[in-house]
Amino acid sequence: MGRVDTLLAAMTPQEKIGQLNMAAGSAVVTGPGERGAVEEGIRGGRIGSLLNVWGAEEVRRLQRLALEDSRLAIPLLFTLDVIHGFRTIFPVPLAEACLFDPDAWERTARAAAIEAGQQGVALTFAPMLDVARDPRWGRIVEGPGEDPWVAAQFAAAKTRGFQGNELRDGATLAATAKHLCGYGAVTAGREYASVDVSERTLHEVYLPPFAAAAASGVAAMMPALIDIDGVPMTANARLLNDWLRVRLGFEGVLISDFNAVTELIAHGVAADDTEAAALALTSGVDIDMASEAYLRGLPSALARGLVSERQIEAAVRRVLTLKERLGLFDDPYRGIGQQRQAMPRALAREVARRAIVLLTHRADVLPLSPDARHIALIGPLADASAEMLGPWAAAGRAEDAVSVLQGLKAAMPGCHIDSAAGVGLDGEDAHGVAAAIERCRAAELVILCVGESHRMSGEAASRGDLGLPAAQGALAEAALALGKPVVVLLFSGRPLIVPWLLERADAVLACWFLGTEAGNAIADVLTGGFNPTGKLPISWPSHSGQIPIFYAQRPSGRPAKRGERFSSSYLDIPVAPQFPFGHGLSYSRFALEDLQCAPRRVRAEDTIEVSVRVRNDGPVRGEASVLLFVRDVVASVARPVLELKGVRRTALAPGGHSRLRWSVPVASLAFPGLDLEPVLEPGEFQIHVGHSADPTGLLRESIELIP
Ligand code: GLC
Repeated sequence: MGRVDTLLAAMTPQEKIGQLNMAAGSAVVTGPGERGAVEEGIRGGRIGSLLNVWGAEEVRRLQRLALEDSRLAIPLLFTLDVIHGFRTIFPVPLAEACLFDPDAWERTARAAAIEAGQQGVALTFAPMLDVARDPRWGRIVEGPGEDPWVAAQFAAAKTRGFQGNELRDGATLAATAKHLCGYGAVTAGREYASVDVSERTLHEVYLPPFAAAAASGVAAMMPALIDIDGVPMTANARLLNDWLRVRLGFEGVLISDFNAVTELIAHGVAADDTEAAALALTSGVDIDMASEAYLRGLPSALARGLVSERQIEAAVRRVLTLKERLGLFDDPYRGIGQQRQAMPRALAREVARRAIVLLTHRADVLPLSPDARHIALIGPLADASAEMLGPWAAAGRAEDAVSVLQGLKAAMPGCHIDSAAGVGLDGEDAHGVAAAIERCRAAELVILCVGESHRMSGEAASRGDLGLPAAQGALAEAALALGKPVVVLLFSGRPLIVPWLLERADAVLACWFLGTEAGNAIADVLTGGFNPTGKLPISWPSHSGQIPIFYAQRPSGRPAKRGERFSSSYLDIPVAPQFPFGHGLSYSRFALEDLQCAPRRVRAEDTIEVSVRVRNDGPVRGEASVLLFVRDVVASVARPVLELKGVRRTALAPGGHSRLRWSVPVASLAFPGLDLEPVLEPGEFQIHVGHSADPTGLLRESIELIP
């Protein structure tokens, strides 16, 4: 008998239920009463895992309680949201997605796992894989953007990065793919609202990233807080059991979201905790995070025959197996005290500068002239190191983070940089505008740092108006009215709808929340030390009426035609986004030519070799990223006008050129057919290659799939 079986045989029903209960560690640090409750729970075998606890000392103290004072001495599992870094904070995931680079995604997860592991954390609630097409939803910041192919690459890379080759190695974290699924489609972008998506869209858009995570061996998954078509994901047996466990063969642990089990009552599908616990457990949820509905409800559910002992045991087996895989039985203090790596700041800086997207650039205002002697750096985000960390910064510290002012001063020691906030991040108070503008009068150039505070995106941060918050608009107007060159650094967890600013500023850079090294990374780009390469992983709307917005639209019977009445368009606003998916300028200019595809006639088992020539027509060395899309022209189900299938990069000197190549397996052109089973249908497929999804900039060739 293995260790897990031996333990299962020795456990009382209460101890089994205890392993399924994850307690919130905030209770550990708030108030003596609650602290005592957690300790009692550990001693009594009523807690199997904890969230929001880290730090060598605290983890050791609590682990010792489990090992020395609980009957079976089963080690605790310590968990935390290590989303984009632990102590060293990397760019928020939406910003990291701008790199379109799985290798970088993997390296940042690896670095975060090493830091978190040293502080006793063994499992992270990441990667977040919610495809999101509605920037009103604040959690768009936490995921990889609008595209399922990108999200699937992100899933695999993050899983590899967090989990490494061997979970037992204390420098790894078990990863949790979340939030299964469709959370990004909350009605009208409103947090926690109901989701109504077609079965087809689930299979084409929302499920593939989770399938990719499962295929990469992700240790855990978390059902979303929402309901889909009236069935809360926490009780969605069809998706959790039938799709995930049976169809995909996922053997990992399912962890509910915070308080989600008892919230089944509020959802209107359970009358009490007994029913809620029974519903969640029988639907496949192993661990109840923080709601204690399993503790309260499973004993009565068992007595009433709503759950069986076998079902409880299966869940406990998965939890204990995870603890075993993590090596916790052999080393309950895994990771703690492992040789420290220095803070991975070089990686943080590299990834942060690659995440910056040059949205607009006129009149060669950038890079800043090395002769610049006086710059005005204004706005509430000019010297705001804490804000740089973004909405989910784990153990990140403001004092580690570099503000724009600090970064720019370090990069331009010979330049006088005059800085003022002018206005707050929020609120209407604009009385500081005049003084800030006064500082700009003698400057050669104005850098305006505006956008959202880190609290305006993330969980429970839906916004209906995606403009600049309040008084910041007044500051921006006043700066633009000066008649001096104005460079805008736009900070946000989502695309902001500011067409007036984008049109009038000389350059605008999307700076998201770039983490610990934000200010240095921004200075690298402003001074030309780094030539921008970031590309948008989302379509950027020009008007909120366009939302939800994404490039992979299905063709309409009456496609949009400007000025034509009976076409798929608006009377009053454009259909095209402000910036298409993939948009991102460089200080270089890249030209694409000579797209080649071979063979022209292919069969299902073939591979299509695609290549295109890229030339750097600009004045400086730079890196081009090129996107490959396909379109299935005629199929039994209308296919999207474009679907991303690959991205390639190349660095080129001025005047330099090279050929980028893709091998596209014909099998990857399959799609969910009329019955939602994958099919590959003969006929014409178009191959499109371009810098972005803007249809006017694409090169196109066709191949034919023969039966
Ligand atoms: C939440 C989130 C989830 C997170 C969990 C634990 O409310 O929805 O993403 O992992 O709590 O902090």
